[in-house]
Amino acid sequence: MKQTNTNRQWRLKRFVGADEIIGPQHFELVEAPMPEPAEGQILVRTLLLGTSPAQRMYISEERQFHTPVEIGEIMRGRGVGQVVASHHPHFAVGDIVQGALGWQDYAVLDAAAPELSDHNTGAVRKVLEPVRPLTTVLGLFGQLAFSAYVGIIEIGQVRRGDTVVISAAAGGVGTIACQLARIQGAKRIIGIAGGAEKCAWLREQALCDVAIDYRAGDLLGALQQACPDGIDVYLDSVGGDMLDTALQCLALNARVVLCGMISTEYQRPRPPGPTHYFNLLYRRSRMEGFFVFDYVERWPEFERALRQWYSEGQLRVFDDVAEGLEHAPAALGSLFSGGNMGGRIIRVSDDPAELPMA
Ligand SMILES: NC(=O)c1ccc[n+]([C@@H]2O[C@H](COP(=O)([O-])OP(=O)(O)OC[C@H]3O[C@@H](n4cnc5c(N)ncnc54)[C@H](OP(=O)(O)O)[C@@H]3O)[C@@H](O)[C@H]2O)c1
Repeated sequence: MKQTNTNRQWRLKRFVGADEIIGPQHFELVEAPMPEPAEGQILVRTLLLGTSPAQRMYISEERQFHTPVEIGEIMRGRGVGQVVASHHPHFAVGDIVQGALGWQDYAVLDAAAPELSDHNTGAVRKVLEPVRPLTTVLGLFGQLAFSAYVGIIEIGQVRRGDTVVISAAAGGVGTIACQLARIQGAKRIIGIAGGAEKCAWLREQALCDVAIDYRAGDLLGALQQACPDGIDVYLDSVGGDMLDTALQCLALNARVVLCGMISTEYQRPRPPGPTHYFNLLYRRSRMEGFFVFDYVERWPEFERALRQWYSEGQLRVFDDVAEGLEHAPAALGSLFSGGNMGGRIIRVSDDPAELPMA
């Protein structure tokens, strides 16, 4: 991986329209001088950047996010980095940290309050037990997994014998959710994904009992066949027609967990809501959404459980790594075109060699 002494930065060139896929055309890659940390700040070399569909909100034409990215600003993004200069007593050169690094090789971060939650603040947190691959900080022991954990365990309350359906099953949250459903004792795990290749991968690698290609048509028929006793838990990351179809297949006392709605969230005008919501009443069921940052106090607990399952061989890493900062716009765009299998992560520079393996 190329090391650099200038600071490449992706800056926003134009906003993303409701019907556009995010790509390099929306950004400009510029070379800036190396930044200098002031007193109380640290200089961090970016190692990895995470991606999330929610990043689209920062840069959409409709200025809907409370602090959007403006034209000319560095694209906002969370990641993992290594401290290369420190003017703060809590951080030493070599420390691995995570936080809002932005799409750039180097970030100067205000490290004044490292004990604070890093949600949407400039604050940065030390990674206490860093291991290789460092992608686990963002994926299996990070926010993708915490989202799957809240969806499957906290809200979905998956239990022994359940039939669990997971949409966007081949994605970052989805692949971990499938594995957590298995750990919780689900009887049958059905993943929904786009395309035959992804579905074969879900069956062979990600341990789904059944994988349904929603692009092949007749999703309702496929779900009814896969879930003869109905769906006990549906983890929905897609919304729209897929949610409406799943609502037609609920078992009694089902739990429908709203994790995301990538198929409709960014559409304008907003499409009509589900027509089969009355099934929640007929099937005495519950539909509930969540926001993973509401659980920030419990992340250490989630991480301990995930590390334990990983050490027992019950969890596998499914990361889909794009190599190089230059690919960041396409990597983010791929979440909307279904170009990823596993959590989409951008490698900006190599993991430090001295870290132990996970
Ligand atoms: N509630 C929370 O706190 C929280 C936290 C994190 C993430 N999320 C949500 O969780 C979901 C997954 O996030 P992620 O980061 O793990 O992304 P991801 O699942 O890795 O990537 C998104 C996937 O969505 C699928 N997709 C895209 N457009 C679609 C469409 N029109 N219809 C059906 N499927 C579509 C694609 O897979 P296919 O090839 O299968 O179409 C794509 O791979 C997102 O909805 C995200 O907003 C919520």
